[in-house]
Amino acid sequence: MKKLLITGGAGFIGSHVVRLFVTKYPDYQIFNLDKLTYAGNLENLRDIENQPNYTFVKGDIVDASFIDALFAEHQFDGVIHLAAESHVDRSISEPMAFVMTNVVGTCNLLNAAKNTWKASGYEGKRFYHVSTDEVYGELHNPEDFFTETTPYDPRSPYSASKASSDHFVRAYGNTYKLPVVITNCSNNYGPNHFPEKLLPLMIHNILNNKPLPVYGKGENVRDWLFVVDHARAIDTVFHNGVLGETYNIGGFNEWKNIDIVMLVCKTMDSKLGRPEGTSEQLITYVTDRAGHDLRYAIDATKIMNELGWKPSLQFEEGLEKTVDWFLNNQEWLDNVTSGNYQKYYDSMYTNR
Ligand code: NAD
Ligand code: DAU
Repeated sequence: MKKLLITGGAGFIGSHVVRLFVTKYPDYQIFNLDKLTYAGNLENLRDIENQPNYTFVKGDIVDASFIDALFAEHQFDGVIHLAAESHVDRSISEPMAFVMTNVVGTCNLLNAAKNTWKASGYEGKRFYHVSTDEVYGELHNPEDFFTETTPYDPRSPYSASKASSDHFVRAYGNTYKLPVVITNCSNNYGPNHFPEKLLPLMIHNILNNKPLPVYGKGENVRDWLFVVDHARAIDTVFHNGVLGETYNIGGFNEWKNIDIVMLVCKTMDSKLGRPEGTSEQLITYVTDRAGHDLRYAIDATKIMNELGWKPSLQFEEGLEKTVDWFLNNQEWLDNVTSGNYQKYYDSMYTNR
């Protein structure tokens, strides 16, 4: 049986990855390590929490002795590392939290994996680091795309911390021969997305008749991918990706912020049976994000051609699924925004 450590599995993308692996690979023992920060929520995994091949561990990747002890106890065969501080706006107000979790935390995992696996010559082991397209900086020419060879140019504390962690992963691959693989993905959307991020924030605010804050003129462009398709890509790369390689993941699905916000408004009006144009009236242009990257666009040709992955959903279908999920799970939205789930799970698990 393979023992697999997934970090950050209580978060948005991590919960979809954990669900996919627990259900698709009953012979793997899946350990979900998560600190349960404001962004981590075990409610996301209610449906699989009692599966015999699933174990939750509460803990902090910044705590090196805890991480070393965890590796020594379980002798994992593989790691899929998603735990991170993930929100750009928070990185502007609290950069050190990003340095600690995204850089120091990643190095703690790399060290533990190296020290635990080196005696076996790393046979059959794999350290998979989940990263972002933001490490490449921003694009200006509409014909340009980020490829795996685009030079790194991180411009926010978040992207600088992720770029740094990517460099450490590659350095451990080069220096210690740790078997590593990295993916850099574009903006995800879908169920369980925390409502500090653009799409769930707009859905939440429309439901509560609050202003919809659009930064600057809403001209910035992002490439959107349904979260389950990202989880499928992670499965593909974890099993078939070539060690030492990097794969970009994206949806070839670029939207200006204002256009995507308008589409969310239209979809919400139709689902809520309101006259078209009702939600749009809530759009409010606000001060731009400091250092706001203009455009991200991923060229996902490599993973498509070499590993056969491709997105399974058209964007309109994915957005409708997402809106339906939030409308059917308004209690989830209320509980994450009020911190109720956090209080509940904090009382169940002790901090390490
Ligand atoms: P998220 O914020 O929803 O979840 C992060 C998870 O990590 C949470 O469950 C949190 O409790 C946990 N965590 C944070 N600090 C921790 C620590 N010190 N120790 C242990 N656990 C900790 O993030 P997400 O959007 O699901 O992103 C997951 C990963 O994917 C991140 O590495 C992010 O950089 C990357 N990524 C995200 C996107 C996106 O669009 N959301 C796109 C590309 C890459
Ligand atoms: O590109 C991948 C990245 O996508 C991930 O690495 C990050 O973890 C993830 O948070 C996301 O980063 P963004 O900054 O692109 O996502 P966010 O949802 O915060 O913002 C999307 C765009 O919408 C961005 O241009 C800023 C804008 N925005 C955001 C918020 C929260 C607004 O206009 N208003 C808002 O209130």
